[in-house]
Amino acid sequence: MATEPELDVLLKTEQTFPPPPDFAAEASFRDPAVYERAAADPEAWWADWAGQLEWIEPWQQVLDWSDPPRAKWFVGGKLNVSVNCLDRHVAAGNGDKVAFHWEAEDAGETGEAGRLGITYDWLLDQTQRFANVMKGLGVGKGDVVGIYMPMVPEAAVAMLACTRIGAVHNVVFGGFSAESLRERMEVSGAKLLVTADATLRRGAPMPMKTSIEEIFGELPDMKSVVVIDRCGTNPSMTEGRDHFWAESVEAADPVCEPEPMDAEDPLYLLYTSGSTAKPKGIVHTTGGYLTQVAATHKMVFDLKENDVYWCAADIGWVTGHSYIVYGPLANGATSIMYEGAPDYPAKDRWWEIAERYGATILYTAPTVIRSFMKWGEELVLKHDLSKLRLLGSVGEPINPRAWLWYHEVIGGGRCPIVDTWWQTETGAIMISPLPGLTTTKPGSATVPLPGIEAKILDSEGEAVEEGGGTLVLSKPWPAMARTLYNEPDRFIKTYWERYGPETYLVGDAAHLDEDSYFWIVGRIDDVINVSGHRLSTMEIESALVADPGVAEAAVIGVPDEDTGQAIVAFVTPQGDAAPGEEFTTALREHVAERIGKLARPKRFFYADDLPKTRSGKIMRRLLRDIADSKDLGDVSTLRDPSVVDDLTAQVEASKKV
Ligand code: WTA
Repeated sequence: MATEPELDVLLKTEQTFPPPPDFAAEASFRDPAVYERAAADPEAWWADWAGQLEWIEPWQQVLDWSDPPRAKWFVGGKLNVSVNCLDRHVAAGNGDKVAFHWEAEDAGETGEAGRLGITYDWLLDQTQRFANVMKGLGVGKGDVVGIYMPMVPEAAVAMLACTRIGAVHNVVFGGFSAESLRERMEVSGAKLLVTADATLRRGAPMPMKTSIEEIFGELPDMKSVVVIDRCGTNPSMTEGRDHFWAESVEAADPVCEPEPMDAEDPLYLLYTSGSTAKPKGIVHTTGGYLTQVAATHKMVFDLKENDVYWCAADIGWVTGHSYIVYGPLANGATSIMYEGAPDYPAKDRWWEIAERYGATILYTAPTVIRSFMKWGEELVLKHDLSKLRLLGSVGEPINPRAWLWYHEVIGGGRCPIVDTWWQTETGAIMISPLPGLTTTKPGSATVPLPGIEAKILDSEGEAVEEGGGTLVLSKPWPAMARTLYNEPDRFIKTYWERYGPETYLVGDAAHLDEDSYFWIVGRIDDVINVSGHRLSTMEIESALVADPGVAEAAVIGVPDEDTGQAIVAFVTPQGDAAPGEEFTTALREHVAERIGKLARPKRFFYADDLPKTRSGKIMRRLLRDIADSKDLGDVSTLRDPSVVDDLTAQVEASKKV
């Protein structure tokens, strides 16, 4: 029998899945000519989509690309995002349509209160009120607002309220630590933070407000904090600075006129990991971003009026921004928003939710699919998932075995799978099947969407027709990041220098097959993808060396069955004490405090020195090979070749356990 990696390769080459005929017959995009039409005139293509939004003032020019990589889309146009996501649906008579079926983690215990049908009417009312609350706290156009929240409807309200008045939100994933939050608030000069007393984690409240209390003293720009009382944990409140959400919103004026925003005004910042220890503040703007997230949400998910769409990401990641909040709301969709853990109170929680609300579209990450695979198909099969008609995947390459399980067990063999490749920087989906048109191959994100141009370049910078290389995007697209907040030079250097100012360097290695399908291989920079979450090796290393017990540290990503990649740390301790388990536990805890739990290395290896070149550079490639038990080749050029033997022995010993 073939081993698993072999099986993956076999499956890769053999199985393809054309759109099921009954799906294709009903699909919104059925005519392959759409690709040619968009390629022939991409600006006209995007202008058509932009025209489906409501503009306060029309644009004069679709794209200004006269000074690349500085792109301007829909030049001169004015619009308001909250109007597009809310007011226009209410005005069209859809105010009572459910925008979110919200399910609390503890809905099983709280009943009605834990299952809310959040309508467009309600969202619009709360958005206007919260916009007025923010105005009352001195927040205006262009000000940065931090959002650090659990998955509650108010998180979406806070974002939309920012767009109402032209404030720029900076959402930080609720699982990040106080230190990560502090850094992101400081560098963005946020004036206000919206947070919760606590968040529910597998039935228990985990403090949010209390655990971040100490950061406020270090944030001179931060003037106010608004706190949602999610868990009734009675957090300490500082008079004059801290306000409870419910009281403030209730007291606020229910009408807030929308601010007309320029298409190129910033909409939000979102910090993501890069090749250095310092996270990058990706800046997205208004008109182009909304156009492309709405367009891709409709195209890729074949959205229909009565769909019940479930993007199971967290609002704190770009997937939540684009495909829980802006895309679906711009399209007037009905979504499911689930607050908690997939295995609480039991491992079939998701399938119970999907059945309860009649989910028709599910969008999630491969790592979650692999967990469900492990938990067994019985948990899925006891629920009626017959309404599901389309499945999506995002965040990391999906291995063919997980793809096939997703297809068979979750999708009952009848649902197409859209494997969507994109990034925080691209803002919207770029490479993905159109489910009614594209024949899929498990493990491939297939081909660029209409209007998008991607290439794979070899080491000389020549486009590859078939084979491997570096993925680039060779035409501007509406939702592209415009800059890095306060770091315009870093933006150019990171993305637009390697192949010139008109070619965007993605940072992924990829492979083009004989049908010109794209296969994403992984990152080419020092970014590790754990469970679909981007983490920087440098950020983790600097957290480790900040511990007084650590002299030096190097961190690498290794393939992992569950999380895609796992973090392995090689550490030289301070002094000569051989570190025990306690030290390792303390280090993991330290990383959790500095960055967040998901950045904790899975394994630690200790050595008196790390493998270095004679000039003192740590050889990460060698560390990767050691961790992979690969043949190391000639190590004689190392400063101290003996460290390799020591580490190899430790790695081998750890594998025997
Ligand atoms: C990876 C998440 C393969 C890739 C939306 C990319 C993927 C990084 C896929 C961006 C996919 C995302 N197949 N790899 N379908 N989707 N990636 O910014 O390495 O959190 O560069 O955005 O995730 O991660 P980010």
